[in-house]
Amino acid sequence: MAYSDQGSGLPLVFVHGYPLNRRIWDPQLEGLSGEGRVIAPDLRGHGESSATPPPYSMDSHADDLRSLLQALGVPFPIVLCGLSMGGYVSLAYIRRYPQDVAGLILTATRAAADSSQGRQNRENAIHLAEGQGAAAIADGMLAKLLAPGTYDSNTRLVEEIYQIMLHTSLAGIVGDLMGMKDRPDSTPLLERIHQPVLIIHGADDQIIPVAEAKDMQAALPDAELVIVGEAGHLVNMEQPEQFNAAVTQWLRRTRLSPPPAGKEVDR
Ligand code: MLT
Repeated sequence: MAYSDQGSGLPLVFVHGYPLNRRIWDPQLEGLSGEGRVIAPDLRGHGESSATPPPYSMDSHADDLRSLLQALGVPFPIVLCGLSMGGYVSLAYIRRYPQDVAGLILTATRAAADSSQGRQNRENAIHLAEGQGAAAIADGMLAKLLAPGTYDSNTRLVEEIYQIMLHTSLAGIVGDLMGMKDRPDSTPLLERIHQPVLIIHGADDQIIPVAEAKDMQAALPDAELVIVGEAGHLVNMEQPEQFNAAVTQWLRRTRLSPPPAGKEVDR
């Protein structure tokens, strides 16, 4: 697995979504490595990590992640942050290895499994990818990943995200789609997550509606919800300063990461 690793102290592990790679977390490597050790891997079949034949269950992505952290000698517990499919992987991780996790950040994600329509859409996407490749998937997803305002105004970001998607292998795309289609409903797990949770969601997310973030907050024992305006599904890239500030303030409020000496704590 390829990974980025920057900073020191509290491990902050960032898990990308589908069909993306660790490059989506560049603004967090830059903006949060003063708060802890920011680690962002490319999941199997994505970016610079090697691919194996599909399927890739969310549990297998979680196990890959744990093996990487162990190989790097990262001290547990960690703070785990997942975006969208990365959130599904993070929920699989905390279900399997709850003792590893001190805090959880769920971004642009949901706890529920796919609906029957959602499962059919996965099948259609598998056929499209197998017939026409990653570019057909990227073409279909690009506009939906961003808030309409970002898509119309930020051409540099639009191009960057398109290139990220083109770097996902066919096995990665199909493997994720099969794994997401069959993932279990994590809703019953939520009430058993006693670690602090921060939920961050773009107000204009076209892939996962804000209502799903509110549902998670209601079901979790200890969760805060931050809704970021003028942001869609890739809220961390569209509004990096607001995203990083939300994470920093939550880390300090929950005392997961103490403020540097002499700095005020936001409340
Ligand atoms: C993602 O961004 O990871 C995916 O859009 C999630 C999904 O398709 O359910």
